[in-house]
Amino acid sequence: MELDVDPFAPDVLADPVPTDTAIREAARVVWLPAHGVWAAGRHADVAAVFRDWSTWSSAAGTGLADIRRGEGWRPPSVLLDADPPAHTAARRVMNRVLAPRALAELAARFAEVAARVVDDAVAVGEVDAAVALAERFPMTVLPDAVGMAPEGREHLLPYAALNFESMGPHNELRADAERRAGGAREYVTWQMRRDALSDDGIGAAIYAHAAAGDIGADDAALLVRSFLSAGIDTTILALGSAVHELARRPGQWAVLRDDPDLARAAFEEALRLHTPSPVIGRTATREVAIGDTVVRADEKLLMMLGAANRDPRRWDAPDSYDLHRKAAGHTAFGAGVHNCVGQVIARMEAEALLGALARRVARIEPAGPSRPRLSNWLRGFASVPVRLTAA
Ligand code: HEM
Repeated sequence: MELDVDPFAPDVLADPVPTDTAIREAARVVWLPAHGVWAAGRHADVAAVFRDWSTWSSAAGTGLADIRRGEGWRPPSVLLDADPPAHTAARRVMNRVLAPRALAELAARFAEVAARVVDDAVAVGEVDAAVALAERFPMTVLPDAVGMAPEGREHLLPYAALNFESMGPHNELRADAERRAGGAREYVTWQMRRDALSDDGIGAAIYAHAAAGDIGADDAALLVRSFLSAGIDTTILALGSAVHELARRPGQWAVLRDDPDLARAAFEEALRLHTPSPVIGRTATREVAIGDTVVRADEKLLMMLGAANRDPRRWDAPDSYDLHRKAAGHTAFGAGVHNCVGQVIARMEAEALLGALARRVARIEPAGPSRPRLSNWLRGFASVPVRLTAA
């Protein structure tokens, strides 16, 4: 079935849920003539596509472009843009360096920085939480954890924007990200190198695996690059969405204040409701039927993760934000062999920041409307004005 909607049109990006709903409810899979791709928005179908990597390949890229035709904007990722078996060795290394045990000693530092970030925001009183909380915290702890140099970090967000906008169509958002990128590409090429990383961070741990022969040195550099592209904007947006919801729902805020250990639940619900990375592509390796629709080999399918995360077939009251919901099974971190390798560290960041908020802030209220972030490949808020009262 053909559906004449464009998920990347500016008005849709400002208010994406109606279009997500239209795609999900029209059929199990719909053809989007605006981009010459298929789209699937039902939870069960998205989960099935994620799990079947041999039918649904990542090697043509997970954005709109077919990178096998040289349409990619950067050298392919050895992780995101690879299928097993090419994907397997790199993924094993990332699983090791990002395992909960390997990250355990970061928790104390995360808690200390979170307390400082929250206290600074409370001292000001009225802040843009998208910047003062959601951006400042990961921008401090993640580059430190990787072992990035202090200089040049101002390039991280422009580089991440270039990365995510380039997954979408050649529109104004993408052109703007390219204009703003400045020296970001050169910075990233430099920061990926072993000699630009500290000796005690996750970056050095990846290079240690290269030295042991588990992966090649070029692969190590590309794996370090994935922290610079995939790991920061997504987390910033998820944290900002959690604060946006908590500021608007005094009942849910009271639940979190009573039990700050629900910080994790506050994060998972934000991920489900405002899915920071709402669209992921795959390419069919063979002809495959979804219901009575046939997708031919080499055609691209967009998994609409935001739509799946509000699918009423899967979730009761899907549009509500509820800390007591069992949000496990949301697709915001993907699933299957490519499931987000950074999810442990993202959750540690969220527990630290939202936990500090719950312990150190008595009241949180909106100080104005939140402004959505307009992006081809990301979802959340560019601005979340709030008023904070100390506990
Ligand atoms: C809230 C924050 C995050 C969200 C919503 C998110 C989302 C996702 C999603 C949906 C995928 C699946 C892509 C696919 O199937 O093609 C993914 C994969 C990935 N993520 Fe995350 N991510 C987050 C945080 C992070 C962090 C902190 C890091 C780095 C430390 C990271 C690194 C990666 C990498 C390298 C992959 C590719 C894994 C593979 O292909 O095997 N992400 N992420």
